[in-house]
Amino acid sequence: MDEDGVNIQKDRVIIFDTTLRDGEQSPGATLNVEEKIEIAKQLSRLGVDVCEAGFPIASLGDFEAVRRIAEEVGPLLEGRKSGQPMVIAGLSRANREDIQRAYDAVKAAPRHRIHTFLATSDIHLKHKLKIDREECIEQVITAVSFARSLCDDVEFSPEDAGRSDPDFLVQVLTEAIKAGATTLNIPDTVGYTTPAEYGKLIKYLIDNTPGSETVIWSTHCHNDLGMATANSLAGVQNGARQIEVTINGIGERAGNTSLEEVVMAMHTRPQVFDVETNIDTTQLMRTSHMVSTYTGMVVQANKAIVGANAFAHEAGIHQDGMLKNQQTYEIMRPETVGLHASRLVLGKHSGRHAFRTRLEEMGYDNLEPDEVQAAFKRFKRVADKKKVVTDADIEALIADEIYQPPEIWKLNQIQVSCGDQSIPTASVSLTGPDGVEYRDAALGTGPVDAVYQAISRIIGRSGRLIEFAINAVTEGLDAVAEATIRIEPENGDAYRVNPQTNQAIARSFSGHGASTDIVVASARAYLSALNKMMAAEGEESSAVMQKG
Ligand code: KIV
Ligand code: ZN
Repeated sequence: MDEDGVNIQKDRVIIFDTTLRDGEQSPGATLNVEEKIEIAKQLSRLGVDVCEAGFPIASLGDFEAVRRIAEEVGPLLEGRKSGQPMVIAGLSRANREDIQRAYDAVKAAPRHRIHTFLATSDIHLKHKLKIDREECIEQVITAVSFARSLCDDVEFSPEDAGRSDPDFLVQVLTEAIKAGATTLNIPDTVGYTTPAEYGKLIKYLIDNTPGSETVIWSTHCHNDLGMATANSLAGVQNGARQIEVTINGIGERAGNTSLEEVVMAMHTRPQVFDVETNIDTTQLMRTSHMVSTYTGMVVQANKAIVGANAFAHEAGIHQDGMLKNQQTYEIMRPETVGLHASRLVLGKHSGRHAFRTRLEEMGYDNLEPDEVQAAFKRFKRVADKKKVVTDADIEALIADEIYQPPEIWKLNQIQVSCGDQSIPTASVSLTGPDGVEYRDAALGTGPVDAVYQAISRIIGRSGRLIEFAINAVTEGLDAVAEATIRIEPENGDAYRVNPQTNQAIARSFSGHGASTDIVVASARAYLSALNKMMAAEGEESSAVMQKG
C-alpha cells in the first residue's frame, strides 16, 4: 500500500537456488540422495521459486537425485506463499546428450526447466572449448532449440559472461532468445566484476538485446572478491528479476551469492530495492542449519544473517542501547530470520506432548512419529543433565537425530579415561550392520583420538581427519556441543571429477554429532562420517554393477 492506501504491486524477484548443484560442487560438500531430498523439501518450505537440483549427466547418482527430487518434491505446495510448486531445474552443457539427460531427470516435476550453458569469453573459447565465436553461436542455437523442443522453460547461461565481450554477448543472447530461451542468466563465473561493472553489464544487455523484454534476466555471481551479494543486487537494480543463490553462500572456491543475504537486503531496504520475493524469511535459520549440518560446511560466526554472532550484542554500550530501544543497534529482528535461540523452553518435567508442540511451533511439523520419539528420548537425556533446554538445543538434537546418513554402524556406548598423568584410553561398543554388538578398546594421543582409534579398530575402516570443529550451541558449561568433522578415505578413492571443469577434486565426507559431552559428540560425528563414506562406496559399486 502507498500513503493513500492504494495497493501497489511490486515487481517480484525469482529466487533460483543452486545449493544442490553449484553449492554441492564445493570441495567436500558431497551430499547423498536422501540428504538432497531433505534439503529440496526445506527449500520448498522456504519459498524458493526454482531449485536447481543437480547436473544429471554427471553421474548415475546425480541423475537419480534430480529425478527423485522432481518426482517427490516437485509437486509439494506446503507452506508456499506463491501458491505454486517449485520449478525443478537440471543443468546441462550445450549438447544433445546432456540436454536430453537433464530433461529426463526433471520431467516428472509439474514445473520443470532445462538450464543449458556454454562459455562465451575469449579465454574459454580459445583454451577450454577450442572453438571460435561463430561455432559458439551455432552451438547455442542448436542447444537452445533442442531444449525448447522438449520443454517450455529453458534457461541459457553464457558461462564467464563477466569476462566476455559485451557486444559478442548481445549477439549470442539475441540468438538464444530467437531459439526459444525464456530466461537469460549472466554468470560472473570467476567472481571478477565489481558491482558497478556488473550492474552496467546487465543494463547494457537488456537495453541492446532485441527481444529482451520477452525473457527474464538473471544474475549468477561468484564470491572470489567478496562481492557476489553486492553484484547480484546491482543486477536487480539494473533490471534483473532472477537471482541465483546458494544457502550459506556455499559453492566452488569462495562460493556463490548467499540466499539469505540478498533476500534480507531486499527485505530490510525496500526503499532501495523496490521488489519482493516469495521467501518465508522465518525459515532462513533452519535452512542454513540443515545445509551446514548435511554438507559439514560450518557457518562462520560473523556470517551475515545466519552466523552465530549475527544478532549477538557484546559491547556494553551496544547492550545498553539495545535495552533502551532495540532499533539503536538492530536493523532486523532475529525472529524475522527464524532465530529463537534465547527462548527458555522445556525442562526435565516436560512431557512428550509439550515437546511435540514446541517442535511444531519451531516448524518441525512434518516429522514421522518414530523421528519425534527418537528426538524426545534424546531431549530427555539432555534435560536430565541441563536445567533448561532451549530451542537451539532442540535444533541441535533434531539435526543429530534426523539429519543423519543411514546408520550402518550404530554407537551404543563409550567410556574414556584421560588426564594429564595418564594415557588416554577409550572403550567403545558398536552395533554392526549384522545387528551384532562389537567392542574394542584403544589408546590415543587424547580422548577423542582414543575413541576414533577404537571405532576404526571395530569397523576395520578409518578416515583421515581433515577438519574438526566443536561449537557450543548455547552459553554455559552445560551447553549442548555440536561436533562437525570431515574425513578423507584412508585407503580408498580420494578424488571425484567435477563435470563442469573436468578437474579432479578431493573427495571427503562430513559427519555431525551433538551431545552435552564433547567426546560423545565427536564420536557420533566420526561414526556418521564413516557411515556416509561406506554408504557412498556401496552406492558407487551398485552403480558400476548397473552400468556394467
Ligand atoms: O558459474 C557459472 O558460470 C555456472 C554456470 C554453469 C551457470 O555455474
Ligand atoms: Zn556458478
